[in-house]
Amino acid sequence: MNKKPLIALLSLLISGTTLWAQNLVKLLPGKDTVTINKHIYGHFAEHLGRCIYDGIYVGEDNKTVPHTNGVRNDVIEALKKLNIPNLRWPGGCFADTYHWKDGIGPKGKRPSIVNTWWGGVTENNSFGTHDFLNMCELLGTEPYLAGNVGSGEVQELADWVQYVNFDGKSPMSDLRRENGRDKPWKVRFWGVGNEAWGCGGNMTPEYYADVYRKYATFMSDWTNNGGLFRIASGANSDNYEWTETLMKKIPKSLVKGLALHHYAVIDWQKKGSATMYTDEQYFKTMKSAWFMNELVEKHSAIMDKYDPKKEIALVVDEWGGWYEVEPGTNPGFLYQQNTMRDAMIAGMTLNIFNNHAERVQMANLAQTVNVLQAVILTEGDKMLVTPTYHVLEMYKVHQDAKLVPIEVNSQNLSFNGESIPAVSASASIAKDGNAHISLVNIDPKKQQEVTIELSDKEYKNLSGRLLTSKKLRDFNSFEKPDYIKPEVFKGGNIKNNQISVTLPPFSVAVLELN
Ligand code: AHR
Repeated sequence: MNKKPLIALLSLLISGTTLWAQNLVKLLPGKDTVTINKHIYGHFAEHLGRCIYDGIYVGEDNKTVPHTNGVRNDVIEALKKLNIPNLRWPGGCFADTYHWKDGIGPKGKRPSIVNTWWGGVTENNSFGTHDFLNMCELLGTEPYLAGNVGSGEVQELADWVQYVNFDGKSPMSDLRRENGRDKPWKVRFWGVGNEAWGCGGNMTPEYYADVYRKYATFMSDWTNNGGLFRIASGANSDNYEWTETLMKKIPKSLVKGLALHHYAVIDWQKKGSATMYTDEQYFKTMKSAWFMNELVEKHSAIMDKYDPKKEIALVVDEWGGWYEVEPGTNPGFLYQQNTMRDAMIAGMTLNIFNNHAERVQMANLAQTVNVLQAVILTEGDKMLVTPTYHVLEMYKVHQDAKLVPIEVNSQNLSFNGESIPAVSASASIAKDGNAHISLVNIDPKKQQEVTIELSDKEYKNLSGRLLTSKKLRDFNSFEKPDYIKPEVFKGGNIKNNQISVTLPPFSVAVLELN
């Protein structure tokens, strides 16, 4: 008789863990064939509130905030540490009002624009195409430009492509050179409009599919591609009809990505405070964030019907938590604080994306600085990084790593008769052979014992980092910017290729195995 399982069971009982009462994560052996595209870890910076102006760009003449060509040095440094793979710009809703030609040439001569979507403020277009693309070079990130389809023209978008991408002589590349840039930036990612079902034009999916075909055609040359990764404006949350229609009507040769937007929101009419939320509001936010799992699976299933080889990416180019703005701030500026609740959203959502990496090949957290679930907040010359920032920094080990498929049996987090899994996880193997497992316990009160069964690969050493805090509603403030930060994780043990982990309430852990 093989005594091993019995001994394993006995030792679990002795250590106080009963397998069936706790959480089990199983790494599935021999199936690590999918790469987690680093572009899942993308960001989004819109001309909205204090994201671009103030948060990123303080202007060339600023004397109080250290900058490089007007872009804050502290923000550049912090973003570089995240290895951000791509940055989406200039919107959002703003993108469909933006005329790129207003944002080139001598700054003093640029016309101004009224930001009709976000606070009705007038801006002077001093942060434009050159400013953004040069900043991306500084960050070492790929730009993702969102074109104006809603209020723009086909020619305008075609010209933008020529302006930033054409190497030879042409009206637009000559203009670019006149404005001081010889070599093209060679931008690959292009959004063809944004939220075409809403702020991007209130279109029907059928109408947008036709409009998309026209715009996509003139962005390219005769190859109908020209190295562009064109992304169609995708569904709002669970609008599956939108995905179905676009997949049916847009020829594969014209599209590389289909977008999806979903925010973790409690109720659009009553979004609740970012910091002073009730237990019920916390649960509802977690439920809305966990809904991403269903959304990704259902939209993917529709895409599979038309694209079984998964050649078209699902691009979740807006995700994150959305609450009421901080008291006393402009309601149109969407400035909100960021607590451990946001770390839970980030950890859980990134686990979902990792686990669906075959179809989800790109995503963008909304938004980078001072807006919605920001990774950075600024106040004058001060800057802080949020709990969400730390999750992205801890998870960067998954970028371009091989996904290890897993099975998760989790305890539930229940509230008023509703339940969602308390523990989520994802695993990958990096190029250097180290394995990483990210684990999230969203239970606000209970710690979770997790048993991780490793697959056929042998690992001897376990280390890790943990993000948690004293209280769920804690956040980093300008007075205490480092209050929440990752610490060394001491709650794990590896023995006989099995790991036991204790996850504190509301915590994110990333383990490294070698
Ligand atoms: O991220 C804020 C806004 O949310 C974006 O501008 C829009 O696309 C979405 O509705």
